Amino acid sequence: MDHKSFDEFWAEFLQVTFHADNPDLWPSRQRKAIWCQEHLNLTQGASILDLGCGDGLIDIWLSRMGFRLTAVDRSRSVLELAKAKDDTGKVYFLPADIRQIQFEKASFDAVMVLETSGLMDKNEELMLFNRINDWLLPGGKFIIDCCESAETFNSWKKMFRDGEVSCRSSFDSIVRMQHIDFSFAPTSGTAFGLFDPIRDDSPGISRYLYPKEELCAAMKNAGFNVQQVPHYYKNNYYGLVGTKV
Ligand SMILES: C[S@@+](CC[C@H](N)C(=O)[O-])C[C@H]1O[C@@H](n2cnc3c(N)ncnc32)[C@H](O)[C@@H]1O
Repeated sequence: MDHKSFDEFWAEFLQVTFHADNPDLWPSRQRKAIWCQEHLNLTQGASILDLGCGDGLIDIWLSRMGFRLTAVDRSRSVLELAKAKDDTGKVYFLPADIRQIQFEKASFDAVMVLETSGLMDKNEELMLFNRINDWLLPGGKFIIDCCESAETFNSWKKMFRDGEVSCRSSFDSIVRMQHIDFSFAPTSGTAFGLFDPIRDDSPGISRYLYPKEELCAAMKNAGFNVQQVPHYYKNNYYGLVGTKV
């Protein structure tokens, strides 16, 4: 089977097929935006940095609520689609790798990392927390979430308008790594999978599921007071809000 890069896969499969067929897409992103608004407790006009913004719809909702958004993702094609959907015309979509990106010190009131933790090498991610602390204004907020655990094995198939999606996942609870392998068989054309070498050299995506205590400790080490908050998914996820000390 052919394997597409992360960027191609997001653009061709997740955005065009998966998301287009999901009537809950905008409402689900609105729930995440409201969750951020509630827990970040910011005043109108506050500046928010979203790292790993994906389809950018959370940022568009937050921009509609009156916040100033800088939304970063390494998937350039997805950001182009996001920009076209931004009816506020105010979100700054920035294609970049968050492992390398730099901002001036004290640039933002808040930083969000949603459903993106564990996708990078652990050391790079922990160094990122220190950089986030630098980019925040005094008293600034850092909101992050993480999945708590996953099934040892899972697989599903679903038919969409343009073809069939298959997903197989596995979770090694000892090393806490989850591996998710997606493939897409278009109704006309050749089936393809996803190759994302950011964490390892196998097809699919791998992510580390942080134990809550480990993520809390990493945030404290980076200079945050940390508080746990209820998560918008209710089950199996946790949210943490750090306040820059
Ligand atoms: C599961 S999506 C989450 C999207 C969005 N935050 C949400 O909650 O709907 C994870 C996103 O992180 C992005 N990402 C992962 N590693 C990245 C990196 N090193 N630099 C920039 N973006 C990255 C991916 O491209 C993807 O869009």
